Amino acid sequence: MIIFKSINRLNKEVNFKANIGFVPTMGALHKGHFSLIKSSKKKCKKTLVSIFVNPSQFNKKNDYKNYPRNLKRDIKILKILKVDYLLIPKINEIYKNKKTMKIKLNKKDKILCVKYRPGHFEGVLAIINQFLINIKAKFMFLGEKDYQQIHLLKKFIKSKFKTKIIPCKTVRLNNSLAYSSRNFLLSKNEIQKASFVSRSVHNFYLSIKKNFKNKNNINKIKKIIESKKIKIDYLELRNKENLSKNFNQNNFKIFIAYYINNIRLIDNF
Ligand code: PAF
Repeated sequence: MIIFKSINRLNKEVNFKANIGFVPTMGALHKGHFSLIKSSKKKCKKTLVSIFVNPSQFNKKNDYKNYPRNLKRDIKILKILKVDYLLIPKINEIYKNKKTMKIKLNKKDKILCVKYRPGHFEGVLAIINQFLINIKAKFMFLGEKDYQQIHLLKKFIKSKFKTKIIPCKTVRLNNSLAYSSRNFLLSKNEIQKASFVSRSVHNFYLSIKKNFKNKNNINKIKKIIESKKIKIDYLELRNKENLSKNFNQNNFKIFIAYYINNIRLIDNF
């Protein structure tokens, strides 16, 4: 595995005419990331992983400061997974060009996490913009746990870049909780609490699949979750193609964002 500490160098040394798969990450790697890497290795000739905890996508300073980081462990894992290239860019290089780092979102997109984490997705789009200007990968692999991220990035990169997004299924623990780097910040008890949320939302999803009228139980489900002293930012049903509120029994998805202590988790079914 070749490790690059600069995008500039990576750009000079990697032949992007070859079929390259790109897996952008913020490190603290887990099974969700491993499955993205496996998909890339299957589909592409070479796989490039990036690790960069992007400050501009954190709307709270403490969240950025406390985000789990374990670079040594990550590098070991990536070597075992036989990743070809790893990019660990420096913050100065990324933020050198202020113009490409200023992205505005459409008013229409102010739903779910855009509404509850102001500035977050502007930061995500900006960093991916910065990456794709230089990294001419054929495919970019992203996990469906971050469903809204995929939705916004697809729209954003479509007219700008040739890179195609490949969404990959959410990977879950046996107790149904989705793998997330933020799980590293939870105690055993808190993991139990989070998996309770995940199971409740999944059961809610199954009940609506059985009988569409069950969608009206949404406030009951919210109350059950909140009774465990879990704060919910949103629990919403939306159309899985365009995220509008216009959905039916065959094309809906449930989205949730909630807090276990002060750790914010998201999921969807
Ligand atoms: O999903 C993530 O880990 C991040 O939002 C991403 C896509 C790596 C951008 O920083």
